[in-house]
Amino acid sequence: MAKKTPINLRVNLGKLKLKNPVMTASGTFGYGKEYSEFFDINKLGAIVVKGISLKPMKGNPSPRICETPSGMLNAIGLQNPGLKGFMKQQLPFLKTLKTKIIVNILGNSVDDYIELAEAMESVGVDAVELNVSCPNVKKGGIAFGTEPFAFEELITEVRKRVKVPLITKLSPNVTDIKQFAKIAEDSGSDMISLINTITGMSIDIRTRRPRIANITGGLSGPAIKPVAVRMVWECSRTVKIPIIGMGGIISPEDAIEFILAGASAVAVGTGNFINPAATIEIIKGIKSYMSTEGITSVNDLTGAMRCLKDRL
Ligand SMILES: Cc1cc2nc3c(=O)[nH]c(=O)nc-3n(C[C@H](O)[C@H](O)[C@H](O)COP(=O)(O)O)c2cc1C
Repeated sequence: MAKKTPINLRVNLGKLKLKNPVMTASGTFGYGKEYSEFFDINKLGAIVVKGISLKPMKGNPSPRICETPSGMLNAIGLQNPGLKGFMKQQLPFLKTLKTKIIVNILGNSVDDYIELAEAMESVGVDAVELNVSCPNVKKGGIAFGTEPFAFEELITEVRKRVKVPLITKLSPNVTDIKQFAKIAEDSGSDMISLINTITGMSIDIRTRRPRIANITGGLSGPAIKPVAVRMVWECSRTVKIPIIGMGGIISPEDAIEFILAGASAVAVGTGNFINPAATIEIIKGIKSYMSTEGITSVNDLTGAMRCLKDRL
């Protein structure tokens, strides 16, 4: 009988070593506990938890979510228990897991981010993801993620203070995402993750009211996938640091598309709401695709898209 070649799903994102390339996207998987009733969450490559700020945040008024064609809009408003609440209520459970824990952090000043990153490093989380879609109060409220100088300063200053692997999460709401990818790399970010949600809005024409109280919100789900794949591809041609791709992944095929476009790992967000076990099915599906295609290491798929000219 022919010997089956083992499939290797392990990926090394610099110092961050994952057993497989599938993780959860921040804000869509709570703090892990919520999903542990559905499946063994230790099987995930990593868990990225909901964004944490220094002080607790109540979030926006309801309605905060609405369905849109092939996606959803959300304006949760970064509701979270704050640093102390996270350490007390969520961290003890996360520490019992046998998967990597990545904490998404957010703040309104460079100092907020530094304090949060240092706190996370001190308790031994595996990586910190900088959510840069927040207004910088010291600079008149411009978002860190859409203003190149504020973006650069933020990453540079946080990098100076911590050694923990840093992931910078890029906003798609910019003219040229490649520019931000390059700044993140040059400022010391170990990885980039993309994309965060795309700003959108929806109106109920009968009531003439916006469908979410905040009026605008972040669009996510399959509707944004082609934009996200394009942005991952553009960034992969611009930087050498690993890329975590996300935006509309609900199936193994979606995940593989991101990897072929240049992602070393992927994250599932809205897909968890449609199918709580989506991540596990995606891991299995990637494995069976590799087996069919005769690929032994998932790393060989990263950026392995063939261009039409290759056919000539
Ligand atoms: C309800 C909800 C909450 C989110 N909260 C966060 C957050 O706290 N921090 C963050 O960086 N991204 C947050 N995101 C963005 C997701 O992590 C992800 O980047 C985006 O939804 C695209 O992936 P998807 O189409 O698979 O959902 C949130 C998304 C949703 C839908």
